[in-house]
Amino acid sequence: MNKHVGILTAGGDSPGLNAAIRAIGKSAMDTGRMEIVGFRDGFRGLMENRVMRLDRSMLSSIMTLGGTILGTSRDKPHKMPVGGELMDMTEVICDNYYRHNLDALICIGGGGTQKNAYRLAQKGLNILTLPKTIDNDVAGTDMTFGFDTAMEIATEAIDRLHSTAHSHHRIIVVEVMGHNAGWLALGAGVASGSDVILIPEIPYEAKKVAKAIRTRKQRGTNFSIVVVAEGALSVDEKKKLDKIRKEKLKAKEKGSSKDRKKSQDAYQKFNRSRSTHTLKLAEQLEEMTGLEARLTILGHLQRGGTPSATDRVLATQLGSACVDFIEQGVSGAMVAMREDNIVAVPLEEIVGQRKMVPLDHSWIASARSVGTCLGD
Ligand code: F6P
Repeated sequence: MNKHVGILTAGGDSPGLNAAIRAIGKSAMDTGRMEIVGFRDGFRGLMENRVMRLDRSMLSSIMTLGGTILGTSRDKPHKMPVGGELMDMTEVICDNYYRHNLDALICIGGGGTQKNAYRLAQKGLNILTLPKTIDNDVAGTDMTFGFDTAMEIATEAIDRLHSTAHSHHRIIVVEVMGHNAGWLALGAGVASGSDVILIPEIPYEAKKVAKAIRTRKQRGTNFSIVVVAEGALSVDEKKKLDKIRKEKLKAKEKGSSKDRKKSQDAYQKFNRSRSTHTLKLAEQLEEMTGLEARLTILGHLQRGGTPSATDRVLATQLGSACVDFIEQGVSGAMVAMREDNIVAVPLEEIVGQRKMVPLDHSWIASARSVGTCLGD
């Protein structure tokens, strides 16, 4: 009897999603024993029974397409916006899984999707996941697809900013995505030979960044490129955030609803204040160095367009291995790349964790040894 397998893509989009969908679909067809159905817009599509049949014609010529042909959303099964409210739609989603006679559901996403998928696995659904995100911060895998493409895009953009910074003798602060981890800023910063790289893992001091820029100026180089991950924090901000998080945890564990609201408000206020942190940094550096500064935010440019060859290969490897794992009856696992081997990592081993840049990582060591300032 044929197996029925569903696929959905959830969370922020990422180059390589279509390559993964294609690999799953084609490998499944190749077995001659599997039927694939796509759900639109992440978990929401499964809740609303919005399906897309993935036959050969749908899978043809999608390898090079950016985005996801299935659409995506950040909606979570247990906190789904319905009629203006957040509702727990887990049971509806489970019912629909059975209504579609699914034998397995493949959820392609980042850290949040791994968590949401795990919740469904705990309800008894056969779940496999694939790790994608341009942030490369999913625990349990060496690399997520999307990261390589985004690193190329950011590097090329920074290369272009170099010549204009040089011509105008300016500081250019470039904000790169990565709200928790600094992989993208660090990779693109090293590849573009940037002068300063600021990542969430290393809290920075603006005065140290300014000193590095002034030293360059004294040596006759009166421009600098400062790459900043969107999640990078100054030492003071980090202290503030740690305190807010501690209060939030305390309120969650043994506080009243008033305490919980207060700590949640403080957290939101802090996040709002951070929305312009790279602009503030550019202004600070201008004042501290006497050089004119400009800010460029690369934003969603980093997520769009054709995937790199590396991401296409990775997505194809993970997608086709996923079909093999379904055939073997594996479930409750993320299909990951580890030291050139594709493995099924139990979801409970990775949910709630984040792969940050280790402070002893060779990219950090290389950046330091070529004189890059990391703000510390
Ligand atoms: O894809 C991950 C990520 O790129 C983060 O670095 C960033 O904070 C986030 O997505 C923003 O995505 P969106 O605007 O889609 O919520």
